[in-house]
Amino acid sequence: MKALILSGGRGTRLRPITYTSAKQLVPVGNRPVLFRVIDAIVDAGITEVGVVVGDTASEIMAAVGDGSRWGVDVTYIRQDQPLGLAHAVKVAADFLRDDRFVMFLGDNVIQGGIRDLIQDFSASDWNAQIVLKRVPDPRQFGVAVLENGRIAKLVEKPAEYVSDLALIGIYMFDRNILDSVNNIKPSWRNELEITDAIQDLVDRGLAVFPHVHEGWWIDTGKMEDLLDANRLILDDLAPAVLGTVDGESQVIGKVVIEQGAEVTNSVIRGPAIIGEHTKVIDSYIGPFTSVYHHCEIRRSEVEHSIIMEGSRIDSVDQRIEDSVIGRNVEIARSPLKPKAYKVHLGDNSRVGLIGQ
Ligand code: TTP
Repeated sequence: MKALILSGGRGTRLRPITYTSAKQLVPVGNRPVLFRVIDAIVDAGITEVGVVVGDTASEIMAAVGDGSRWGVDVTYIRQDQPLGLAHAVKVAADFLRDDRFVMFLGDNVIQGGIRDLIQDFSASDWNAQIVLKRVPDPRQFGVAVLENGRIAKLVEKPAEYVSDLALIGIYMFDRNILDSVNNIKPSWRNELEITDAIQDLVDRGLAVFPHVHEGWWIDTGKMEDLLDANRLILDDLAPAVLGTVDGESQVIGKVVIEQGAEVTNSVIRGPAIIGEHTKVIDSYIGPFTSVYHHCEIRRSEVEHSIIMEGSRIDSVDQRIEDSVIGRNVEIARSPLKPKAYKVHLGDNSRVGLIGQ
């Protein structure tokens, strides 16, 4: 088995973070989503990994390297334009050859990994197996209709109820998918859709089986989903204090203090993670907060948030909540007059001020 991870795309829904950074590298629970995907693939025993990259290729390549850190071989596959998930399979044909493979979206996180799934599929003679999850509102998803234990039909964003089993971004295929991605035409949004390619497998009478995933799964495509993924991952955290916590501080519940981090006169209420070489001084860090490496939080309160590398929060007197803060951001009180909000915000930034 090989693995194909999709890490191209536009990431428009995660702007402004994605203006300067690949969305697959956003840390949740202080580990980039893409690294978590690779962890799951390595855990399943796969060693040949293809990574489809687009405009953010250099950043992804710098972060993942040749895969030796995980003991796997990584091959980068360039997709010049994000023309759809089936298009990504098409451009990966030389890497995939005739092998069976798992395709994993590089911005998805799944609870419990994919080891059992991979074992079942690699031991079977099925042509495809698609991971599905029951969702409360199927109208927002591509869904699968089952018949006699197989997938009989796929419907994109069904207006009328046909099934509540949504496709969640993990697919296993054999070589037949390469013919299917060539058989299909672009959709109304000018993308080669993986659902159309899977429908083509079904229409050709090939064996396409479902797997219904019972744990949680999050597509981190939007800000709210990033915070959800962060919350769920932190919930599973194994506490560890590797940095320093002074006698005036309190660490409560599931908390990780990474190496070189310093907590001074502060309260950290887990689940929370404080990254390497981050300083927390005279502050409160509340549940479901991930503070990444080299940050500084001083005289402030933060809860249910993701704070990325190198950011600084100083003397903010209202609690910061439900926030995603990018790299090298500064939120600080200024002694200068006039007394006013002074911001340098990129396009599509959002600031929520406290109402009356
Ligand atoms: P999406 O989230 O569906 O698409 P996107 O990244 O373009 O985001 P947005 O809709 O916000 O603009 O993509 C799912 C994953 O697949 C993500 O990791 C990017 C990747 N991808 C590719 O590698 N190639 C593609 O052609 C597309 C559409 C997505």
